[in-house]
Amino acid sequence: MTTQIQPDAAARTGDPDAPLLTIENLEVTFRTRDAPVHAVRGVDLTVYAGQTLAVIGESGSGKTVTSRAVMGLLPRTASVRGSIRLGDRQMVGLGEKELRKCLGREVGMIFQDPARSLNPTMRIGSQLTEAIRVHLPLDRRQARERAVELLAMVRLPAPARRFHEYPHQLSGGMRQRVMIAIALACQPRLLIADEATTALDVTTQAQIMDLLLDLQQRFAMGLVLISHDMGLAASYADQVAVMYAGRVVERAPTREMIAHVRMPYTRALLDATPRLERPPHAPLPVISGRPPDLRALDPGCAFAPRCSRVRERCRQERPELAEHQPRHEWACFFPCADDTIPGEDER
Ligand SMILES: Nc1ncnc2c1ncn2[C@@H]1O[C@H](COP(=O)(O)OP(=O)(O)O)[C@@H](O)[C@H]1O
Ligand code: SF4
Ligand SMILES: [Mg+2]
Repeated sequence: MTTQIQPDAAARTGDPDAPLLTIENLEVTFRTRDAPVHAVRGVDLTVYAGQTLAVIGESGSGKTVTSRAVMGLLPRTASVRGSIRLGDRQMVGLGEKELRKCLGREVGMIFQDPARSLNPTMRIGSQLTEAIRVHLPLDRRQARERAVELLAMVRLPAPARRFHEYPHQLSGGMRQRVMIAIALACQPRLLIADEATTALDVTTQAQIMDLLLDLQQRFAMGLVLISHDMGLAASYADQVAVMYAGRVVERAPTREMIAHVRMPYTRALLDATPRLERPPHAPLPVISGRPPDLRALDPGCAFAPRCSRVRERCRQERPELAEHQPRHEWACFFPCADDTIPGEDER
């Protein structure tokens, strides 16, 4: 018997228009030796089947902590408040065992560093087969067949041979393909890729992104692309949410966002994105100034110390994320002018 890979994961959803993942007012605080670190401070995100959402922001903006909160992978020093619903099931407050059971079949995650996520002492076939058997009631032979199918699906060259190899015998790109196969082992409805292509060279990056998009469309999965790279969002995502200091500060459909950026931070991120592809291992583009200390945040806008448009009000009051134009939200008192609107005043 061959184990068929389900052609349409969305078929398992009741209402195809219902969100797969709904995060509301998520707050994550870490206890530390000194002051608590407020890493995520009221994040709302929604992901639908067949949709690609890019979550973009500099290092330290809370992207990984948000995704790890969804996966129940935060250390015990973290306290999580707010709501994370998978379909209509609330995940915040579930015990570890229940959480694993719900997540296991619904969400797959891929990380930046496939070398560290794979066990160096185990053949890749065994690792994949193990992942499959945790989630699906297959015997050893069926799980092996399924594993080779998965390796072929992620376009690993010579999957039957690679099955017997160790991680170190594979290139970085091939290891990331194995990680994607492992993430897909349970036919998840939602796939979270956290800087999944950051460690790879440009050509391999593009191949892995094409593979992810292809799989996402084939299985109508929701895909969350987490990255510091606005160029990646622009090329692949339907929607972009920009994070700064633990909050979403601008959100819009990708085309709208690129054409009509309003938040000065997003503008700076876009300006820091080189037009030409970055050569491998080039330093990441940076915005001048440093992200704020998440232990002691001032009452105003967290971007104020670095913002070229800052005014007194920004230091006193915190701008809330709001929908100022249809499907375009931003959190800023003095947004950049939309130069496509005739006569719109700068400031
Ligand atoms: N275990 C932890 N204890 C204390 N602070 C943490 C811990 N994990 C992450 N942080 C802090 O949370 C913030 C957000 O981190 P992270 O989500 O990893 O950022 P990003 O993925 O956007 O680069 C950072 O300031 C980071 O130092
Ligand atoms: S609210 Fe003020 S400081 Fe914050 S991004 Fe807007 S203009 Fe800049
Ligand atoms: Mg991260």
